[in-house]
Amino acid sequence: MAELVTNDPSLEGPLGIVRDAALVVEDDRVAWVGRAADAPAADRTFDLVGRCVVPGFVDSHSHLVFAGDRSAEFAARMTGEPYDGGGIAVSVEATRAASDDELRGLLTHRVAEMRSQGSTTIEIKSGYGLNVDDEARALRLARELTTETTFLGAHVVPPEARGDRSAYVDLVVGDMLTACAPHARWIDVFCEPNSPYAFTEDESRRVLRAGLDAGLEARVHGNQLGPGPGVRLAVELGAASVDHCTYLSDDDIDALAGSETVATLLPGVEFSTRSPYPDARRLLDADVKVALASDCNPGTCYSSSIPLAIALAVREMGMTPAEALQAATLGSARSLRRDDVGHLAPGARADLTVLDAPSYLHIPYRVGVPIARALDL
Ligand code: NIG
Ligand code: FE
Repeated sequence: MAELVTNDPSLEGPLGIVRDAALVVEDDRVAWVGRAADAPAADRTFDLVGRCVVPGFVDSHSHLVFAGDRSAEFAARMTGEPYDGGGIAVSVEATRAASDDELRGLLTHRVAEMRSQGSTTIEIKSGYGLNVDDEARALRLARELTTETTFLGAHVVPPEARGDRSAYVDLVVGDMLTACAPHARWIDVFCEPNSPYAFTEDESRRVLRAGLDAGLEARVHGNQLGPGPGVRLAVELGAASVDHCTYLSDDDIDALAGSETVATLLPGVEFSTRSPYPDARRLLDADVKVALASDCNPGTCYSSSIPLAIALAVREMGMTPAEALQAATLGSARSLRRDDVGHLAPGARADLTVLDAPSYLHIPYRVGVPIARALDL
C-alpha cells in the first residue's frame, strides 16, 4: 500500500505513517507492520497498491435503534426552526410501534452502512423506547451487533410522563435500569437545561450515579444547546466522555484539561441543526483529549459518515486532517476506554479501513466521495 497510518507514536509523525507499507494479520490481530520490501511471507495477500490504509474508524456515539424518520423536522430547521429535543417523541412513537424484526432489520442495515464507509467499532445507544420493555429491547437488539451498548433511558422525559418528571427519573434509576443493565456497558444522560424535555444537573447526577452503582460506565450528552453543567458533571463523575461540547466556558475547558474525560465532538449535528461548530482548536490547544463521532440519529444528524465528520472538523472547526483522523480513531477509542482499536501497532485488532486514494489527506479533500470502506478480511 502507498501509505499506512498506524497511530503508533514510535513511527513517523503523530500519525505513525509508514510509506510503501505492508501489514500482516494473524487471526484478528495485527502481527507485523513495516515496509512492503521487508514483509514476511503470508498465506493470503490483499493487493492494495497505490492505496492508503488507516485504522478502522471508531464511531463512539450513535443512536441507531429507531424506526421512521424526521425529514420534515430537518426541512423546517433549514428554514430557521430551532432544535429543542421535542421531536424525539416522534421517534419514540414510531420505535415503540415497530416489531423486533423490523428494528433488527433497520439496525443491521445501518451498521452495514457504517462499515461500508469505514467504521469498524460502533457504539449504539437506546433512548427511543423510554419505557422498561422498549429500552431493554433496544439494548438487546443492539447487543447482537456490538459490545459498546449504552443505556439512554434518560434521553428525554416521554410525553406520557411529562406531568411528573421525578416519577420518570425514579423509573429510569429503578426498574428500567434493572432491566437494561444486563445488556449495556454504558449509561448516558441528555443533561441539558436549555431543553424542556431533557434533564437537569441534579436529575442527571442521579441517573449517572445509579448507573455507576449498577456497574455501568458513564458518558454524557452535554453543552449541546447552550452553556450548561454537562461537562463539569461528566468530569466530576469520571465519565469516559462528554459528547457535543458545542458551548464551552473557560471553566469547562479547564475541567476537561485536568481530567481523563474525552470531549467528543459531533460536527454532523451542527451541520444538520444549523448551529455553531464547537471550538476544537481551543480544546486541542488546552491538551484536552478530543474524539470525533457521527451521532447518527433521526433528529440532529441522520448521517452515519465519519469521513463527513472529519471533513467538517477540518473545514469548520480548525482541526488539521491529521488531528481529525486521529480524533476519529485513537480519540474515539479512548472515549470507549478501548486500547485494542483505533491504532494498528502489533497486537491491536486488525480493523483496517482502505481508502481508494494514496493518502489520508484525501478523506477531507475528497469530501462527499465514498473513498473509505472497512476491509473484510
Ligand atoms: O445526540 N441530544 C440528544 N440526543 C440526540 C438527538 C436525538 C434526536 O433528536 O432524535 C443527539 O443530538
Ligand atoms: Fe447523541
